[in-house]
Amino acid sequence: MSEDKAVTIPARSEGATTLTKDAAPGETLLKVTGLQKHFPIKKGLFQRQVGAVHAVDGLDFEVKSGETLGVVGESGCGKSTMGRLITRLLEPTAGKVEFEGKDITHLGVGGMRPLRRDVQMIFQDPYSSLNPRHTIGTIISAPFKLQGVTPPGGIRAEVQRLLSVVGLNPEHYNRYPHEFSGGQRQRIGIARALALNPKLVVADEPVSALDVSIQAQVVNLLDDLQQELGLTYVIIAHDLSVVRHVSDRIAVMYLGKIVELADRESLYRAPMHPYTKALMSAVPIPDPRRKNTKSDRILLKGDVPSPISPPSGCRFHTRCWKATEICKTTEPALIELKPGQQVACHHPENFEDQAPQDTVLLTVAKEAAELVADEVLAESAETSAAVAAEVAEVAAEVTVAEEAAESSESPKGESQESTDK
Ligand SMILES: Nc1ncnc2c1ncn2[C@@H]1O[C@H](COP(=O)(O)OP(=O)(O)OP(=O)(O)O)[C@@H](O)[C@H]1O
Ligand code: SF4
Ligand SMILES: [Mg+2]
Repeated sequence: MSEDKAVTIPARSEGATTLTKDAAPGETLLKVTGLQKHFPIKKGLFQRQVGAVHAVDGLDFEVKSGETLGVVGESGCGKSTMGRLITRLLEPTAGKVEFEGKDITHLGVGGMRPLRRDVQMIFQDPYSSLNPRHTIGTIISAPFKLQGVTPPGGIRAEVQRLLSVVGLNPEHYNRYPHEFSGGQRQRIGIARALALNPKLVVADEPVSALDVSIQAQVVNLLDDLQQELGLTYVIIAHDLSVVRHVSDRIAVMYLGKIVELADRESLYRAPMHPYTKALMSAVPIPDPRRKNTKSDRILLKGDVPSPISPPSGCRFHTRCWKATEICKTTEPALIELKPGQQVACHHPENFEDQAPQDTVLLTVAKEAAELVADEVLAESAETSAAVAAEVAEVAAEVTVAEEAAESSESPKGESQESTDK
């Protein structure tokens, strides 16, 4: 069977697999507030808790119906933990998860049952996530059996329909996972996730185990299925290039926190968090003429610090080339600095701010800055100055407009008097 097989999506079957009322496109489907997961570290005979891994440390975000939220960040920053928390495969340490306006944070097994249909997960490794002893027919029909759902036409017919939906041959119902390639196995994982017609699909690095040539096909399949079935996705990746074309909005995570959350256009056009900028500059440039251009790459200093004792203040301050004293002492809140662009940084890029050259840098920042190309530092200072000038101009215009409005609002006689003068 060829990987290049065109994806044809047959009409959706009627009936039992369709679930409760759908949220209208654009309505909030999932809302997460202050979400935390700390894994306790226990030691000794009595398994005393000696610390905790702060895997997810206070996330606030929403996912709108019909959209794709991309979540990116380096290994160990808590992406998978976040995925497992919102699909309720893990119990949060603190915070709240709401699905269609309902608080699902601490639902028990019974309460979670209907949610298990609505929220599905696609796992990173298509090799280990499919039981090698089961046929793909058994694997894809498992969700129906677990939920006690019989689709019209029977389970077998529905599984075969799902196989053709994901671009596989329905005749291969009785084959085993080892008879399929990595890309095809991931298609089986997608068919299993779609079986109960979910509303939200959380895909944890759905293509990172696949060859680059197959990655685009699976990403395109996810995209096609979203169009056809009106799905809502949270797609986790460590590589910005994977989420670039499919995401409506992108959340950038660093050490258990969201440092920037913005719509795709704004994020790629003008990233505001220094870490986003660094991640972005690490994405290979496809233009062959720029192949050897290394000068605008930002190299990050050292490894990601341990989530057991994250750095004080801004967690990125030990690697950031703009870090000043406030970055070390005060944690920046995630705030909306431009419409649709939330950033947690004291000295954001592409924004009005004191250029770091004008302030006292931490020693670590000076060291980190040595790894950042002069062009990048100059551009950063330039944009800060340009945006500051723009903001000053707008502020001046606003003052003039306000003064004009004030004078037109003042009593007639008075304004008459002023014009008479
Ligand atoms: N069950 C667990 N017990 C203890 N620590 C854990 C557990 N699961 C994850 N962690 C730790 O939590 C942190 C976040 O892990 P997580 O798997 O969520 O990161 P990730 O961003 O998905 O990384 P990757 O890109 O490597 O998949 C890591 O330091 C990890 O070691
Ligand atoms: S400038 Fe400061 S607050 Fe912003 S990312 Fe760097 S260290 Fe963090
Ligand atoms: Mg992971």
